[in-house]
Amino acid sequence: MRSLGNRLELVSRLIHTYGPFACLADIGSDHALVAVRAMQNGDATLCVASDINEGPLARGMETAARHGVKPQFVLSDGFDRLDGYHFDCACICGMGGELIADILQRYGKHPDCLLLLQPMTAQDDLRAYLWDNGYEISAEHYICERGKPYAVLCVRYTGKSTAYNYPDLFLGKFRPDTPDYRAYKAKVHAQAQKRRIGLLAAGGDTSREDELLKCSE
Ligand SMILES: C[S@@+](CC[C@H](N)C(=O)[O-])C[C@H]1O[C@@H](n2cnc3c(N)ncnc32)[C@H](O)[C@@H]1O
Repeated sequence: MRSLGNRLELVSRLIHTYGPFACLADIGSDHALVAVRAMQNGDATLCVASDINEGPLARGMETAARHGVKPQFVLSDGFDRLDGYHFDCACICGMGGELIADILQRYGKHPDCLLLLQPMTAQDDLRAYLWDNGYEISAEHYICERGKPYAVLCVRYTGKSTAYNYPDLFLGKFRPDTPDYRAYKAKVHAQAQKRRIGLLAAGGDTSREDELLKCSE
């Protein structure tokens, strides 16, 4: 099988660790590498690979055929056309944090479903959405691929909102002392510096960015 790369290897490893699952969703599956790996590992009895676009879905079907496994493929915007399935795990990877939040908002409340979320951008917006709307982030894992740091959030709907401060939105609440997390933190720091310069130029209040800069040193 084509290498998954560090980012999706991490997602697959988490599926393997938390599984096996009865019904796994790979939302925005594209190449369906995660779904295919889960089936090969026996991490899910039923696996649904779903994408909003036909091209990526066809790509996923080719991957599955090449590897002799049979996930179900569904053309769907988020979970919109996946009503009949009772997922106990869903991964949503490689999309912006705002889009992931929008997909979850339309999915509704499913405490039985473990969510593995890997936002490419707007991690702060995604964490805010989760903490404001009754989702618990039980763990965050970090990994670098080709020099870029990524976070994977392990999330479950509990109905309880979580208090947070501004640095939590960007840095998460766990902040492990690992090389991958240090790379993640350095990226957050650089982005905060840029926002601070913009705020200074516009005569804005920099206190939140100052706090974030201190926490991300
Ligand atoms: C950058 S790819 C990520 C593929 C894979 N999940 C990964 O992490 O490598 C994003 C995929 O999400 C799909 N997508 C975008 N918006 C979506 C939505 N609302 N519902 C389902 N799939 C969506 C795109 O068509 C694309 O195939």
